[in-house]
Amino acid sequence: MVITDQIDKSKLPQHIAIIMDGNGRWAKLQGKNRVFGHKQGAKAVKEIVRAAGELEIKFLTLYAFSTENWNRPKFEVEALMTLLISAINEETQDLIKNNVKLLAIGDHEILPSKVKKKLYQAIDDTKNNTGLTLTLALSYSSKWEIIEAVKKIASQVKNNNLEIDEITAEIFDKNLSTSELPHPELLIRTSGEYRISNFLLWQLAYSELYFTEKLWPDFNKDELFKAIINYQQRERRFGKTSEQITH
Ligand code: FPP
Repeated sequence: MVITDQIDKSKLPQHIAIIMDGNGRWAKLQGKNRVFGHKQGAKAVKEIVRAAGELEIKFLTLYAFSTENWNRPKFEVEALMTLLISAINEETQDLIKNNVKLLAIGDHEILPSKVKKKLYQAIDDTKNNTGLTLTLALSYSSKWEIIEAVKKIASQVKNNNLEIDEITAEIFDKNLSTSELPHPELLIRTSGEYRISNFLLWQLAYSELYFTEKLWPDFNKDELFKAIINYQQRERRFGKTSEQITH
C-alpha cells in the first residue's frame, strides 16, 4: 500500500500525461463486452482527476480518443461518444466545485455535434477555474497536430508576419494545440504496452516515461502515487552529465 507521505510535494511533476489503455482487455477478463470496460475506465478517470487535484498537480492530459480510434467498430465508437456525453453531464458540476479547468485538444471537426456542443459548454463553464487543468485529447493525433502547426506557421510566413529565420522551438510550441500547457514531465501508459501511439510526440521529447502492467480500469489513486514516486527517484539530465546536475 503506497502512502502519500512518500511523495515529495516540492518535486511534483507539474504536468502528467496519460495513455489510458486496456479497457477492452479488462472487460474480456471479466467475461464482459468492451463497452463495459470503457464504462469502468470512465470511473478510473474520475478517481485520477480527483487524486491529481488533491495532490495539487497543475496539469493532467488524458488520451481519451485517438484519430485512429475512429476505425473501431461503429458500435464501440458510438458507445464511447455516448459515454463522453454522460461523463460531461455528470461531472461538470464537480469540476466547477473542485476548481478544475477543462480543455480539449484534437480534430474536433469530426466529433458528433452533440459531443462538440457539450464539450465546448463544459470548457466555457470551467474557463475561470484556477486549480487543475484537465485536458482531454479527443480525436487527437500528434502527427495531425504537428501538421496543423506547420500549416499555421507557413501561412504566417506567406503573409509576411514571420521570417523563416524567426522559426524556433518556442514559436513551434506556440502554434501547437497545447500552447497553454507546459511539456509533461511524466507520461504514464497502462496495460503493459510500450508505445507512444501518436501522442504528444513533440511535447514528450524530455518526459520521463512510466509503463505499468495495470489495465486502465484498475489504475487507481495508489497507482498514480506509485508512478509519481518512481518519477521522483529519477535523475532528469536533459542531455547533461550527472555531475553537471548535482553540482
Ligand atoms: C483504451 O482501451 C481506451 C480508450 C480507447 C478510450 C479511453 C476512454 C475511457 C477511459 C473512458 C471514457 C473517457 C472519459 C474521458 C470519460 P482499449 O479499448 O484500447 O483497450 P484494449 O487495448 O484492451 O482493447
